Amino acid sequence: MKTTGKKDPTHDSLLMEAALETVVPVDLAERSYEIHIGRDRLDGLGNLVKQRIRGQRILLVSDTNVAPLHGGRAIKSLREAGLEAHLAVIPAGEGSKTLQHYSQLLDTLVAIKADRHSAVVALGGGVVGDLAGFVAASYARGIDFVQVPTTLLAMVDASVGGKVAVDHPRAKNMIGAFHQPTLVVCDLALLDSLPERDFRAGLAEVVKYGVIMDEEFFAWLEETTPAIVAKQADVLGRIVTRSCQLKAQVVAEDERETSGRRAILNYGHTYAHSFETASDYSLMLHGEAVAVGMVAAAKLAEMLDRCDPSLNQRQKTLWSTLGLPIRLPRPFHPGELLGIMYSDKKTVGGKLRLVLPTKIGHVDTVKDVDPEMVERSMLEVISG
Ligand SMILES: NC(=O)c1ccc[n+]([C@@H]2O[C@H](COP(=O)([O-])OP(=O)(O)OC[C@H]3O[C@@H](n4cnc5c(N)ncnc54)[C@H](O)[C@@H]3O)[C@@H](O)[C@H]2O)c1
Ligand SMILES: [Zn+2]
Repeated sequence: MKTTGKKDPTHDSLLMEAALETVVPVDLAERSYEIHIGRDRLDGLGNLVKQRIRGQRILLVSDTNVAPLHGGRAIKSLREAGLEAHLAVIPAGEGSKTLQHYSQLLDTLVAIKADRHSAVVALGGGVVGDLAGFVAASYARGIDFVQVPTTLLAMVDASVGGKVAVDHPRAKNMIGAFHQPTLVVCDLALLDSLPERDFRAGLAEVVKYGVIMDEEFFAWLEETTPAIVAKQADVLGRIVTRSCQLKAQVVAEDERETSGRRAILNYGHTYAHSFETASDYSLMLHGEAVAVGMVAAAKLAEMLDRCDPSLNQRQKTLWSTLGLPIRLPRPFHPGELLGIMYSDKKTVGGKLRLVLPTKIGHVDTVKDVDPEMVERSMLEVISG
C-alpha cells in the first residue's frame, strides 16, 4: 500500500507499460470478482458473462441515452453467447433511482420468469448501476449482477465495491444494500460518446485516489494532463486500471465500511454532499462538487496545521488544467452548508468526521472537528 511508503510491485509496471488491456482482481473471498478493462470489450461481454453465471436468462438494464448508442451491441454479444437477453430501459438521470423504477424492474424480472440463476446486467452510468444492482440484490434474495459502466465515474468508482441503492425523496442513496457484482467490464471505447462535462467530472474521483493513497499516481496525473484531456487510449487505460486497483484495495480491506478504512473514499464528499443538497443537485455534477469539496477539505487541513498549503495549490492547479471548478458557481451561506453537513448520514452521534490530508498520498479520518473551523474553510470555495 502506498501509504506505508513501501514500493507496490504492481505500481511501476502499471504506470510505465501500456495499459490497454488489464484485469483487476477484487479480493473478497467467495465474493471475489474481476474488473476487465480495455477497448471494445463490449463485443466479448456475452462470453465473459456466460462463464460466470449459472443460468441463461439475462435482464440488461440501460437508460434512454445509453441504450440507443450501445444497447444493441450488448444484446447481440449476449445472444451470440447463447444467453436469453431481455432489455429494460429507464429514463436517463438521477430521477430514475427511485423505488418506483426499482419496483418496475422487479415486475419485469417476474414477467420474463427470471429465477435464482438469472442475472441482471447494468449498462450505463452510476444511476443504472446503483438501481439495477439494488434490483439484483433483492430479487429472489439476490441474483448475479454484472456491471458494464459507461461513464468514467462509474468505471473508476460506482461499479466497484458493491454499494447499490435508490434514493429516498428526502435522502440520496438511503435505501440500498451491499451486493458485489460477479463481473465488471469497462469498455473504454464507450467513453467516446460520453459528454465532455461528464468525462471531466469523473476525473475528480481519479485525482481523489491519488490524494488519499497514491502520491506517485497523483504526480503522474499532473504530468499527463494534456494526454488525459485528449483522452489518449493508453492513458485512459492507466487511469481506469489504477483507480480500480486502489478502490479494490480499500474495498477488500473494509468491504462493509465497518473498520473505518473505506471511509477514506469520502475525501471531499461531506462538503460535496452539502453543495449538492443546497442546490437540489441541479447546479453541479457530482464530480464537480467533489473537486470543490476537496479544495475545502484541504483548506481545513491546512488551517488545522495538518498539511502544507502546497497540497491545496497542487490540487487547484490540477483542477484548472483538467477543467474542473475550484469554487462554487454561485454564492452560498456557509452556515447553511454546515447545517447540511451535520445532517449527513455519515455523521455519527451528531459529530462530524472528516477525511483530511496530511500530504499527497495520505489522509486521516478526523473526528470532532470544530464546526467554526469547518465553516471558515467554506470561505475558500464560496465566491462573491
Ligand atoms: N455505488 C457507488 O459506490 C457509487 C459511487 C459513486 C457514485 N454513485 C452514484 O452514481 C450516480 C452518478 O453516476 P454517473 O455520473 O455515471 O451518472 P449517470 O448514470 O446519470 O450518467 C451521466 C449521464 O451520462 C449519460 N451516459 C452514460 N454513459 C454514456 C455514454 N457512454 N455515452 C453517452 N452518454 C452516456 C447518462 O445517460 C447520463 O445522462 C449517482 O447516482 C451516484 O449516487 C454510486
Ligand atoms: Zn463520489
